[in-house]
Amino acid sequence: MQPDQSIKPDRNLALELVRVTEAAALAAARHIGRGDKEAADQAAVDAMRQVLDTVAMDGVVVIGEGEKDEAPMLYNGEHVGDGTPPLVDVAVDPVEGTRLTAMGMPSALTVIALSERGAMFDPGPCVYMEKLAGGADIVDLLDLERPLTETLALVAERRGASIRDLTVVMLDRPRHHEQMAAVRAAGARVRLIVDGDVSACLLAASENSPVDILWGIGGTPEGVISAAAMKCLGGQLLGRLWPRDDDERERAVAAGYELGRVLTKDDLVKGNHVFFAATGVTDGDVLQGVRYGRGGVATTESLVMRTRSGTVRRISARHDRAKLRELNAGFDI
Ligand code: FBP
Repeated sequence: MQPDQSIKPDRNLALELVRVTEAAALAAARHIGRGDKEAADQAAVDAMRQVLDTVAMDGVVVIGEGEKDEAPMLYNGEHVGDGTPPLVDVAVDPVEGTRLTAMGMPSALTVIALSERGAMFDPGPCVYMEKLAGGADIVDLLDLERPLTETLALVAERRGASIRDLTVVMLDRPRHHEQMAAVRAAGARVRLIVDGDVSACLLAASENSPVDILWGIGGTPEGVISAAAMKCLGGQLLGRLWPRDDDERERAVAAGYELGRVLTKDDLVKGNHVFFAATGVTDGDVLQGVRYGRGGVATTESLVMRTRSGTVRRISARHDRAKLRELNAGFDI
């Protein structure tokens, strides 16, 4: 009998992508605590771009640093990779938490996600979306149409807990004050974060996590990247576009976006060939940041996963900084 070719082991692109996020994290880490978020981002972009071109793929950046005229590299529409198949969509956030990096605060990471060509949601003019995310055991309970406090009651029941045991993680923003008060009034706790809702989403979907649910209005690009992660982890991220003003609303409607529609992880990233890699820049709950040891050594920790197999890997790496500087002339590593 012939073996079933459709299930033969195939290439796991995420294992190659981790070199990209490691390089970006090492470059960004030189700027931790130096108060300059643009410099941290630029260093990560440069490093990411250089290593990306060594990956055998024909990639188009769907989620990048912005439009071509505002971003010299990793701009939306830019081709990355060595140009050979497979044809893929690429989402990058060279530093997710630029301010966290600049201020030496926790949970900054560098991240990349890949899917089949044409599978990723293009946010167009929509900068923000409302997000609700959680782990595999509560996927069916997540609903953006229902008040969050009612969902929390259902989650508590499912987990055999009291609502007082639950924690909702959200960005610390004035636009969240009303929801924050409602969650607290219902008895649950709120964990506020300064930035970085991709990391918070990963945390909400992890087992034995200190948080149960992520809610809040954050970046749409970060929403697409988080959806890619949820497709690998088995959790769910729901999103609803959230225009900041009438102008943005009109532009979104004119471009054909359905503003009231709730988008699932499968609307944000279609298909079953999704790859995700992230490396910690500063220490966080999900990933350890870049650490410097004796003898010019740096260590990184990364999360590497893909949907098809569902394998989630943690990769610890030891880097010889002097050798890397030689290999990547011009980079401060
Ligand atoms: P960057 O570091 O990439 O700028 O993003 C940080 C971040 O906190 C995201 O995690 C989040 O989705 C978004 O910014 C929220 O936007 P804002 O700071 O405008 O509320």
